[in-house]
Amino acid sequence: MAYGDGDASFRAAGGESGLRRLVDDFYDIMDAEPAAATIRAMHPADLEVSRDKLARFLCGWLGGPHRYNEKYGRITIPGAHSHLDIGAAERDAWLLCMRAAIARQPWPDDFKDYLLRALAVPAERVRLVCARMRELDASTPSA
Ligand code: HEM
Repeated sequence: MAYGDGDASFRAAGGESGLRRLVDDFYDIMDAEPAAATIRAMHPADLEVSRDKLARFLCGWLGGPHRYNEKYGRITIPGAHSHLDIGAAERDAWLLCMRAAIARQPWPDDFKDYLLRALAVPAERVRLVCARMRELDASTPSA
């Protein structure tokens, strides 16, 4: 089964525990990486809930059980970020942390490549929605 079909990606990632490890590495890297300081500062000081949310989201997004919805309800990724100031630099910093976290996982190289390319799609949508919100803010007269 190709990655992207059914739960093939979820299984290739090592299921829920594999995704927890990915997300723990991702946030550990974001915490330490100077290039990610701006996006780290957008998160709460305590990353525990952020870790839980991202791991649960990726679980469903990769074809596994919908753990995010079970605990936190409905979500769209662009909508969840539209209040943030995310441009190309912030998108790239997020993907840099994700690339480094993926590199640490015991996964086949073709799955690592697939996942990074797949994540670049919603990351770009996040940038676009944030740019759109900034345009709207700029064109709305203040009261
Ligand atoms: C484009 C670069 C991105 C940046 C800079 C970024 C940054 C952030 C920040 C700062 C938060 C916390 C928001 C808050 O506490 O108000 C957050 C939440 C979250 N992010 Fe991202 N993010 C990015 C892309 C993504 C992508 C591509 C995904 C999924 C594939 C994702 C999944 C999530 C999830 C699930 C949450 C929790 C949302 C909630 O429950 O409110 N993020 N992100």
